[in-house]
Amino acid sequence: MPAPPKDARSCLAEVLEVERVGDDGVILSVRPEIAMLDVRASRFFMLRHEDARSPAIPRPFSLYRQRGRELEFLIKVMGRGTQALAQSRPGEKLRLIGPLGNGWPALDGDGPMWVMLAGGVGSAPFYLAIEQALKGMDGKARCGKDHVAFLFGAARKGLLYDVDAFRGFGVKVFTATDDGSDGFKGNVLQLLETLWSRGTLPRECRLLACGPERMLEAVEHLAQEKHLECWLSLETLMGCGVGICNGCPVPTRPDGPLGAWPNAKCCVEGPVFSTRDIAL
Ligand SMILES: Cc1cc2nc3c(=O)[nH]c(=O)nc-3n(C[C@H](O)[C@H](O)[C@H](O)COP(=O)(O)OP(=O)(O)OC[C@H]3O[C@@H](n4cnc5c(N)ncnc54)[C@H](O)[C@@H]3O)c2cc1C
Ligand code: FES
Repeated sequence: MPAPPKDARSCLAEVLEVERVGDDGVILSVRPEIAMLDVRASRFFMLRHEDARSPAIPRPFSLYRQRGRELEFLIKVMGRGTQALAQSRPGEKLRLIGPLGNGWPALDGDGPMWVMLAGGVGSAPFYLAIEQALKGMDGKARCGKDHVAFLFGAARKGLLYDVDAFRGFGVKVFTATDDGSDGFKGNVLQLLETLWSRGTLPRECRLLACGPERMLEAVEHLAQEKHLECWLSLETLMGCGVGICNGCPVPTRPDGPLGAWPNAKCCVEGPVFSTRDIAL
């Protein structure tokens, strides 16, 4: 049975800052009571206020940045849970459970280029991913800046959260907006096809994607069609985050390594899955 990660902890964390970002987002910085070792990109934490402001069920968020003891979360305000977190004030305490889930595979510099596809707040697990790819992790060869491309798509410019921070890495960054208010006019997959056809990016690459479900379905189909290695970071609804409630099923491929059971649990077997393992 898949179990919660051994390094997961439940603790209080002090709110340090809440910075507005984009049209409807915040970057929430907290300092947990317990120091965390380096957390692999695309692992996540469950967060809530321990009073009536937050729903009883905590909400899952990818770790956006880690600066020593400080953790940062990029949060798009959707409903009651995210609103309560966005309205946190410095000095308040939050309940934090994590780190949870698996995270991206080790982003080594040995194979084809890494092409990262983000849709809206699906950019959250990519800041650390790029940072860890450039510095190397788990003894794997680190990537050169030319070995990473970040394609960031959103409905409009105001939803390309914190995009300048990504540009600051010096990797290839391309943006796409549905209304053409920033970068390419169209979606992130149309942008990828255009960059391939112009020869700006190599067709042989490894894909990582996080974003709305329809975008991830399209990425999955593209990866199957082009025979590309591809990992998706899924944002299912989650009740517990630790494998108990069965609230986060993801359909598995019968012929894949997880195919012995029709569903995997996104919280403990994901949130990152290879497209060889699941069928959205
Ligand atoms: C592993 C993981 C990592 C995540 N990382 C981030 C992150 O870094 N930043 C971030 O802003 N969000 C992230 N999310 C999504 C975030 O957890 C939800 O937006 C949040 O739970 C919504 O809570 P709420 O109480 O504000 O909204 P609710 O009141 O619960 O819902 C409001 C509306 O949002 C919809 N909604 C709720 N959850 C989701 C979801 N997962 N996907 C699509 N629509 C949803 C509901 O159907 C409803 O229409 C992540 C989710 C997972 C599973
Ligand atoms: S969220 Fe409860 S089992 Fe996954």
